Amino acid sequence: MDFTLTGKVAVVTGAGKGLGRAISLAYAEQGAKVVLASRGQADLDSLAKEITDAGGEALAVSTDVTSKAAVEALADAALETFGKVDIWVNNAGGFIDAAMTDWADVDAEALDQMWSLNVTSYVYGAQAAARAMKTGDDGGSLIFMSSLDAFNACPGGEGCYGAAKMAITHIARTLAVELGRFGIRVNSIAPGIVQTPLLDHVLTSDEIIADKAKFYPLGRIGQPDDVAGAAVYLASDAASYVSGATLLVSGGAIFNSDPFRYLSAHAEGA
Ligand SMILES: NC(=O)c1ccc[n+]([C@@H]2O[C@H](COP(=O)([O-])OP(=O)(O)OC[C@H]3O[C@@H](n4cnc5c(N)ncnc54)[C@H](O)[C@@H]3O)[C@@H](O)[C@H]2O)c1
Repeated sequence: MDFTLTGKVAVVTGAGKGLGRAISLAYAEQGAKVVLASRGQADLDSLAKEITDAGGEALAVSTDVTSKAAVEALADAALETFGKVDIWVNNAGGFIDAAMTDWADVDAEALDQMWSLNVTSYVYGAQAAARAMKTGDDGGSLIFMSSLDAFNACPGGEGCYGAAKMAITHIARTLAVELGRFGIRVNSIAPGIVQTPLLDHVLTSDEIIADKAKFYPLGRIGQPDDVAGAAVYLASDAASYVSGATLLVSGGAIFNSDPFRYLSAHAEGA
C-alpha cells in the first residue's frame, strides 16, 4: 500500500502560510513536486527554497485565487513546468472582516467578498484542476479545505464563513460524482481550530489556547501538521477508493463551541 507521493505533481493554494505551507512541505517530503500558489511572493520564494534545499522540487506562482484567469494560469504553469497535475489542494481561504458578524447584520458587499474568497475561488480551482488532470490518464486527487464550522451554527461572527465552508463541502461531494468517471477523486478536510496565522488575532495567549483546547476531546487544539497528514493520505494511492468524503481533523470534536459561547454571552447581557 502506497502512502507516499513519489512522482506526483501537486498544486497547493494558500501555500505561503499556515495549513498550505505545512501541506506543501509534507507533500515535498513524501516525494511530490509541488506548485506553490499564494498572494505573497516572498513567502512562496522562501518556501520553495526550503523545499529545494532539502532536495525536492518546487515552483512558486504568485496567484490570487479569486481571479479565474490567475487560477487558469496557475494550472498552465504547473503543466508547462512539470507536465501534469495529480493533486490539487483548494486551500486558500479565510475570514473577511466585514462579514464576521451576525447574519442579521451582514451586508451584501461583505457577503460577496466572503463568497468570492471561500466559494467561487474553489470552483475556479476545481475547474482548472479537472482540466489539468484530464490531460493525463491517471486521474487525480482534488482536496477542498472545509472546516468544522461547516457543520455547526456559528453565530456572532463565523456564520457567513461556516455557510461558505458548507457550500464548498457540498460542491466537493457533487464533483466527486461528476469527475469520478475521469478517475478524479474529490474530498474535503474539515479541521477544527488549528494554530495558524489566520487565528493570530484569536489565539493571543496560552490561557486562551488552553481554554479553546477544553472543547477538543484530545485535549489540545490542532497544529498545521495534523492537517497535513490528512492531506497526504487523501492525495496518496492509499486513498484510491476514497471520494466524496469529508475527513474531520478536529481532535475528536464534532461540534464547535460558538453557539454555547454566544448564548451564554447574551444571557449575561454582553
Ligand atoms: N486555521 C484554522 O483553524 C482553520 C480551520 C478550519 C479551516 N481552515 C481553512 O484552512 C485554509 C487555510 O487556513 P490557514 O489557517 O492556513 O490560513 P492562513 O491565513 O494562516 O494562511 C492562508 C494563506 O492563504 C493565502 N491567501 C489568502 N487569500 C488568498 C487569495 N485570494 N489568493 C491566494 N492566496 C490567498 C494567504 O496569503 C496565506 O498564505 C482556509 O481555507 C481556512 O478557511 C483553517
